[in-house]
Amino acid sequence: MRIFVPREREAGEPRVAASPDTVKKLTGLGAAVTVEAGAGEGSRIPDVAFEAAGAAIGSAENAREADVILKVRRPNAEELGLYRRGAVVIAIMDPYGQDEALRAMAEAGITAFAMELMPRITRAQVMDVLSSQANLAGYQAVIDAASIYDRAFPMMMTAAGTVPAARVFVMGAGVAGLQAIATARRLGAVVTATDVRPAAKEQVESLGAKFVAVEDDEFKAAETAAGYAKPMSAAYQAKQAELTAAHIAKQDIVITTALIPGRPAPRLVSRDVVETMKPGSVVIDLAVERGGNVEGAVPGEVTDIGGARVVGYLNVPGRIAATASLLYAKNLSAFLETMIDKETKSLRIDLADELQKATALTHDGRVVHPAFAPAPATDAAQPAGENGASEGGTA
Ligand code: NAI
Repeated sequence: MRIFVPREREAGEPRVAASPDTVKKLTGLGAAVTVEAGAGEGSRIPDVAFEAAGAAIGSAENAREADVILKVRRPNAEELGLYRRGAVVIAIMDPYGQDEALRAMAEAGITAFAMELMPRITRAQVMDVLSSQANLAGYQAVIDAASIYDRAFPMMMTAAGTVPAARVFVMGAGVAGLQAIATARRLGAVVTATDVRPAAKEQVESLGAKFVAVEDDEFKAAETAAGYAKPMSAAYQAKQAELTAAHIAKQDIVITTALIPGRPAPRLVSRDVVETMKPGSVVIDLAVERGGNVEGAVPGEVTDIGGARVVGYLNVPGRIAATASLLYAKNLSAFLETMIDKETKSLRIDLADELQKATALTHDGRVVHPAFAPAPATDAAQPAGENGASEGGTA
């Protein structure tokens, strides 16, 4: 079995899909691993470290003979042109609203697995890229906020006077939000947080932060069986906006992380509300790539709104790439390991397997995932709409 790990082509993507540890693990299972020269540079893994772990160093052309390609991002058309039909590609595929890209992967004949569709069951925790990357994004959001904020985070009592603790409000207390709360607390901030899922309340409080939310009947039923938030009604959103507006005006830092799988991020903070914040306040919108929680957040930019800085950094896990790559690589190798037959040391694709079934997007020339497969028309027929049709979400 030949595994290839390319250098990521997408601008602003410093992560890599293997680490020396995972190379060692996979070669130990009988695979021959080739890493493209320079693939680990952005994550501070030099070629020699991959070589020492048992990988060969090659070029993009080595993709042609690979049985498995491990990537961070969905392959582009040029990359797909290199892969042989039947190759397995495992990556963060960002499949929602990307019908054309999925079709291209199907037509290239690859078996594409989307790591972000991994079921959140105990057995697959080690493969959960949403958690491994969101956890780091939550941490990094606080570090970014602290470096942009021109005051101190902790309360300090000094001979020259007392410095007040920064007030941090975290909106969305999932994996990223909880790590943001923990990190801001470690830096000495006074932290509050909100979410629409009741389970979040106890988790927020166990981290020493105060929970602020509209806790009505809709809130009590806001969690899906899969543990995600439901989209909230307009009436709930209005109540939530009213409650949080008064709170945000008193905050120094707001970090938003709210997402709903397969949908645009909910809008939680209006421009008017940002304008009520003190000059020098910082707003970090971790949902900016999915449409943003904050009105006026611009992807990839820091925007001044009434003296507050609204930060829309892209690929926040990539801002802590050396750590993010190690965890991501482990997520991938753990999943791939479940597909390797220990006796024959060969790849065993079985789309009836729970994990493969949940994550397989394309196989045998078709889009196979039920959430993304074009409705009844098969094979050659083109679906009518380009996007929107498959935005229903999976969980
Ligand atoms: P996510 O990335 O989909 O969303 C982030 C947070 O935003 C969630 O807590 C969500 O409730 C919140 N949110 C959505 N709409 C909102 C709104 N209008 N206002 C305020 N907050 C809003 O969620 P993430 O981080 O992936 O976590 C989802 C769930 O999965 C959690 O319950 C988490 O504990 C659970 N989980 C379970 C795992 C496992 O069992 N293996 C692993 C990781 C997470």
